[in-house]
Amino acid sequence: MATLLHIDSSVFHGEASSSRSVTAAFRKTWEERHPEGAVIYRDLAANPVPHITADAWSAGYAAPTEHTPEQSAAFAARVKLIEELEQADAVLIGAPMYNFSIPSTLKAWLDSVLLLGRTAGETPSAQGAPVVVVASRGGSYAPGTPREGYEFVQNYLEAVLTGTLGLDLDFIVPELTMAPRNPAMSELVPLYEASRKRAFEDAITKAKELVERLAA
Ligand SMILES: Cc1cc2nc3c(=O)[nH]c(=O)nc-3n(C[C@H](O)[C@H](O)[C@H](O)COP(=O)(O)O)c2cc1C
Repeated sequence: MATLLHIDSSVFHGEASSSRSVTAAFRKTWEERHPEGAVIYRDLAANPVPHITADAWSAGYAAPTEHTPEQSAAFAARVKLIEELEQADAVLIGAPMYNFSIPSTLKAWLDSVLLLGRTAGETPSAQGAPVVVVASRGGSYAPGTPREGYEFVQNYLEAVLTGTLGLDLDFIVPELTMAPRNPAMSELVPLYEASRKRAFEDAITKAKELVERLAA
């Protein structure tokens, strides 16, 4: 029985969110193919995890027997998030671009989950787990576009998810999502529509591939 950790972080709800729509399509395919599987769901916009604190951080470098009551409480919240990651056979993350980077709620989750000597370091505890990130954005930051150098979502997530947590990372990038609403982008609507279609197709294909890979 495989477990999927599904994280959304868009402030928009349901179909108003490209990343939520695509993660939902992935999850639906996953659940159809894997009815006996489990899904751990975190909606970081609806229920944000706390920002890292000095107690939560320093507790990661002290023996549990030496924790103050404040450190114990703060660290327990981190450990819960870490255990969810460690339990997961696969991870699915909706990561919309906000001001060229990830939502602060997703950053707060990462600040809790990255723990040297456990999830990070020489043998990261979730090493090798596949992670699919739906990196939606209003514009395009693809190679060769004028704003290529402003892309701090994929670059950053590559560094933390692969470089630090050791996960096996794959992206789905629904781009130009602002085109239907921004008259200045009207000529980009066909590219937006193509990107959206591809994102849904990719979500279904990748979910099927992942179910097969985990069953093998
Ligand atoms: C606070 C905020 C900041 C944003 N900043 C950017 C940005 O820097 N670049 C961009 O291309 N789109 C930006 N957008 C647009 C979103 O990336 C776009 O709406 C995308 O579809 C978000 O994913 P979602 O539909 O899952 O919410 C921003 C949206 C919000 C709400």
